Amino acid sequence: MADPLKLGVLISGSGSNLQSIIDHIEKGSLNAIIKIVISNNPDAYGITRAKKHGLPVLIFKHEDFKSREDFDLEVIKTLQNNHVQLVVLAGFMRILTAAFLRAFPQRIINIHPALLPAFPGTHVQKQALEYGVKFSGCTVHFVDGGVDTGPIIIQSVLPVHDDDTEETLAARILKEEHRIYPQAIQFYADGKIEIDGRKVKIKSANKTSFPALHNPPLAGY
Ligand code: GRF
Repeated sequence: MADPLKLGVLISGSGSNLQSIIDHIEKGSLNAIIKIVISNNPDAYGITRAKKHGLPVLIFKHEDFKSREDFDLEVIKTLQNNHVQLVVLAGFMRILTAAFLRAFPQRIINIHPALLPAFPGTHVQKQALEYGVKFSGCTVHFVDGGVDTGPIIIQSVLPVHDDDTEETLAARILKEEHRIYPQAIQFYADGKIEIDGRKVKIKSANKTSFPALHNPPLAGY
């Protein structure tokens, strides 16, 4: 087997996606190693999760830095010193500067709780409900200079129910995030990802086995 892919995971909050990555690594379904967890928020619960699993954690409070650039330079230096091959944003609530993108070209991924390009930004489950979409889901994508605009690696689609609240929808989407993020990282670790402009192709991936999804379901049409 190839050497484990060296990850740097950036968090700001609960860290449930970090937990899912840790769990998949520990059970052997993700060939990666977390070299460093970085949080910009000292109160992030993800820090506790990382420490429980003996992972190295660094906290960089963004208020302590003169500028966004200075903050990013420190993070870049730390990731490089840890020989990180893939930067995994897992609920990291900061926009990256151009210097960060230059330091890790096509080597930064993010997870977003909506079906991009619909509903980028924040409070997206609320936006999806208010818009009245029948499906939502989550997206893993490469990070580029825009907000949630980079090439899409994998998406998961979920029906929106009439009685969904922001919380119930977010909870169902989060469960799917925990499945597709480790899968996207494993695609990367296996060298299966080909980027062609906006398009990401996964070498040797099967075609989806269902023809279409309907919500509400079709009644005999
Ligand atoms: C997730 O919904 C993710 O899609 C978004 O921020 C949330 C982070 O959750 N980017 P967690 O910290 O991984 O629990």
